[in-house]
Order: sequence, then C-alpha cells, then structure tokens
Amino acid sequence: MNAPEKLPLFELSTWSTRQLADVEQALSRWVACPSGAPAPAGLGDAMRYAVLDGGKRLRPLLVMAACEAVGGNAQAALRSACAVELIHAYSLVHDDMPCMDNDVLRRGKPTVHVKFGQAQALLAGDALQALAFELLTPEDDSVSAATQAALCRMLALAAGFQGMAGGQAIDLASVGKPLSSEQLHEMHRLKTGALLQASVMMGAACGSIGAATQSALRDYGAAVGLAFQVVDDILDVTADSATLGKTAGKDAAQDKPTFVSLMGLDASRDYAQKLLAQALASLKASGLKNTDALSALADMLVNRSA
Ligand code: IPE
Ligand code: IPE
Ligand code: MG
Ligand code: MG
Ligand code: MG
Repeated sequence: MNAPEKLPLFELSTWSTRQLADVEQALSRWVACPSGAPAPAGLGDAMRYAVLDGGKRLRPLLVMAACEAVGGNAQAALRSACAVELIHAYSLVHDDMPCMDNDVLRRGKPTVHVKFGQAQALLAGDALQALAFELLTPEDDSVSAATQAALCRMLALAAGFQGMAGGQAIDLASVGKPLSSEQLHEMHRLKTGALLQASVMMGAACGSIGAATQSALRDYGAAVGLAFQVVDDILDVTADSATLGKTAGKDAAQDKPTFVSLMGLDASRDYAQKLLAQALASLKASGLKNTDALSALADMLVNRSA
C-alpha cells in the first residue's frame, strides 16, 4: 500500500508575510491621501506616524484569514483589513494620551502626542477613524453596495459605545476598583474583543456563508478576542518594555483591574489556553475547510511573547 500523501505543513510566517505585503502597501498608499490630496498642516504626518512602521497587524491578518476561509472578495478584504487597523491605530493614539493611560512609548517609538502634541494626536485619531469608513466605501464597483453597508455597520458597532469606546469608558471608570469576573469579562469583551471579533466577521462578510458557520466564526472571534486581552494583561507583567515596544508594568502602576490582578498569573495563563481550545473547537464546528491561517493565528496570539 502506498503511504498517504503528506500535506504541506502550514507556515504562518510565510502566509503572513505574503498578506502583509499587500496590507502595508495599501495602508501606505491610503493613509492621509486616499484620493491624492494630502492632509493639511502636518495632520498627514501624524496619521502616517500612528499607522505605518509598526504593530503586529493581527487584526488585518484575521480579516484576510477569514476571507480566505470563506473564499471571499479579496478587494473587500484588503479594504476591511486596512479599515480595522486604522480604527485600532486611532484607539491606541487616544489610549496613550495623558487623559487616558498617559503613555510615552508605542510600537517602539514615542507616542503620537509626545511627538506631535496632544491636539494633533486627537485630530489624527479622529481622522483615522473617518478614513476607515472612507476605505470601506469605494466609488468603483469592486465591493457591492450591500457588502459595503454590512462592513460599515460591523465596524461601527465594534468601534463605538457597544464596543471599543464603551470598553475604554469602563476601563477608565474602573481604575483602583476591584471588578468582579463578570465585569472584567465585559470590559475586555468590549474594549478589545469587539474589534478582533469584527475583524473575523468582516473577513467572513466578504464571502457568503450560512448562519451556522457565521455563528461558529463569531464564537471563534469572541474567544480569540478575549484571549488576546488576557495575554496583553499577562505580558504587561512578564515582558519588558523593549520587547513589547510599549511601557511594561503600566497596569499595576495605574491600578487597573486586569485578569492578572483578578486571578493571578498562572490562572490567567491557564485561562488563555482554555480560550484557545474554545477558539479551535469553534473553528472545527464552522465546517469550513480552509482554516489553517485562522487556527495558526489563534495559536500565535495566545502563545506570543510580545
Ligand atoms: C494593543 O494591541 C492594544 C490592545 C488592544 C491590547 P496590539 O498588541 O495588537 O498592538 P499592536 O497593533 O501590535 O501595536
Ligand atoms: C487598550 O488596552 C485597548 C484599546 C482599545 C486601545 P490597553 O490600555 O491595555 O492597551 P496597551 O497595553 O496600552 O496597548
Ligand atoms: Mg488603556
Ligand atoms: Mg494603554
Ligand atoms: Mg495593556
């Protein structure tokens, strides 16, 4: 009997490099001058500084992987990948400002307000948020009107009071207060999970899938989204600033409630692994075949060291 043919092992780094070549090129082309007109009075410099040259680009990778899994429209996925990253980058610019976490280091560089001043940082965040929705609504016919509307709605929900901004509000209101496990889950689900889950669902919305697959992907997105912030909380304690490219130890210094402060390091690590197992089980339940990238990304974002 012949030996079964060996499937090629999935190489996340090769796959990511290929995807990110497109994403980086698109971001560089679109940020600050999407239709050829540069942003005025230095705003474009601040926007480009906030978005280009840095970041793990996990959200764009999740979009591209989900689109690949459903065999969706690659143009729509590329626009969605960039749009999600713009919302994320804007959230970081504002998160770092003195009125929020007051951080001076981000992606290995001085934060946007340190480099350009607070007013310009505020405006850069505002403009990046608007640009995200501009990218989702191209004038050409590369993305159908229905898909454009669906993508805009998903991103708006994940970025606004029912998502990231709402979670950030809870975060700021919780300084110095011990939260219950339920409250902490809710805060993390909103401030970080929503945008990561939206990345998966926007990638999926670039194709056409049934309700059961959609629901399984939503579960996958919820699990990786929560796991991501649990790991962010862990790394804040265990990693150093040079490795993270942002100031380590900030959560304890600012008395923020985190999974580490709630349950300790070991239980947080166990919990992240449990969430990874949940994510992989949901992926299996999706019935999709082409999920190598989604599964490798889940593993990477839970087992990362930076
Ligand atoms: C940091 O996100 C902020 C959180 C939501 C925890 P990332 O760790 O994805 O930051 P970058 O994009 O790689 O800089
Ligand atoms: C930020 O959470 C989440 C956002 C919505 C930006 P953190 O405040 O924990 O993120 P870092 O640790 O500064 O990257
Ligand atoms: Mg914060
Ligand atoms: Mg912060
Ligand atoms: Mg953090």
